[in-house]
Amino acid sequence: MAERVFNFSPGPAVLPYEVLEQASRDIVNFQGMGMGLIEVSHRSKQFIAVMDEAEALLRELMGIPGNYKVLFLQGGASSQFFMVPMNLLGPGKKAVYLNTGTWSKKAIKEAKLFGEVNVAYSSEEQNFVRVPTPAEYTVDKDAEYLYLVSNNTIYGTQFPEFPVVDKMLVSDMSSDILSRAFDVSRFGLIFAGAQKNLGPAGVTIVIIREDLLDRTPANTPTMLSYKTHADKGSMFNTPPCFAVYIVGQVLKWLKNLGGVEAIEKINREKAALLYARIDASGYYRGHAEPASRSLMNVTFNLPTPELEAKFIAEATARDLNGLKGHRSVGGCRASIYNAFPREGVVKLVDFMSEFEASNPA
Ligand SMILES: Cc1ncc(COP(=O)(O)O)c(C=O)c1O
Repeated sequence: MAERVFNFSPGPAVLPYEVLEQASRDIVNFQGMGMGLIEVSHRSKQFIAVMDEAEALLRELMGIPGNYKVLFLQGGASSQFFMVPMNLLGPGKKAVYLNTGTWSKKAIKEAKLFGEVNVAYSSEEQNFVRVPTPAEYTVDKDAEYLYLVSNNTIYGTQFPEFPVVDKMLVSDMSSDILSRAFDVSRFGLIFAGAQKNLGPAGVTIVIIREDLLDRTPANTPTMLSYKTHADKGSMFNTPPCFAVYIVGQVLKWLKNLGGVEAIEKINREKAALLYARIDASGYYRGHAEPASRSLMNVTFNLPTPELEAKFIAEATARDLNGLKGHRSVGGCRASIYNAFPREGVVKLVDFMSEFEASNPA
């Protein structure tokens, strides 16, 4: 492998090396066409095959039922904060939101533009150290959906299981899609920006149950209606071709690795190594409560901000990059998405022990 660091960035994040290598060839000459894949018409049979394959692989890997549409959209996961309520709510309609971090707060703000919002749970006063158990909130019977962020990238918390409620779930899975197995049929809509577990920034995946496509109010702008994109196979306008191509390659990589069950096992092992090191002494303190710990983003603090700065600088010097925590939590964050190699986690754990020994609190 060419010289590469261990990239703990929260996103855009590390991608499988073999995907990058293949892409670097395809970007110059795609399938012998004499032109690169980002120069090819999105209406060409070659590019249509790229889209079809990406969708088919996603359906296979996630077990997406036939009555769901898969959309490849632009505008980032943040555009879904308004597209979801714009399409599914309306005057007099209500949704229940669980406030577990920055990304749910932003979604709540947008949802209030389109309908009534009941924030049934919030851990904001505890700086989002946890996600709720179902006993900690109630879901209004007349609500259209229950919205949750499955993995809170900034705080390092994750729903260990999805709520079993008598209501359709809508979830922002931007930072943990395809990291673990779950039953898609309990969700009305799932969305995820690609730039953590799926590919580069530029494409957002939406998985939507077909019957919801008819709920969109008539005065919704064409580009912002899910039905527009569902009816045209995400080709109403030019799709983000390069990002979709990379997603397809990443999905192929994941399938070859053994699919979601195989990667879940690896993800659990990687996270367990880091959490065991954090818990081994009082030197490192995890931000998330143990029952809410994320398998994707491991957040922790050191005894002082000065030691944190030194830790991050020395880690970077050893090619352990991107460990600085988000400003709202401080400390460190190790993002260990699907493509992050186990050796990098082992190297970080070893460095944590060494740093603790040579920098007493
Ligand atoms: C859980 C979650 N949702 C939404 C977003 C926003 O994504 P985008 O930048 O694609 O709008 C992020 C970005 O990190 C995220 O982690």
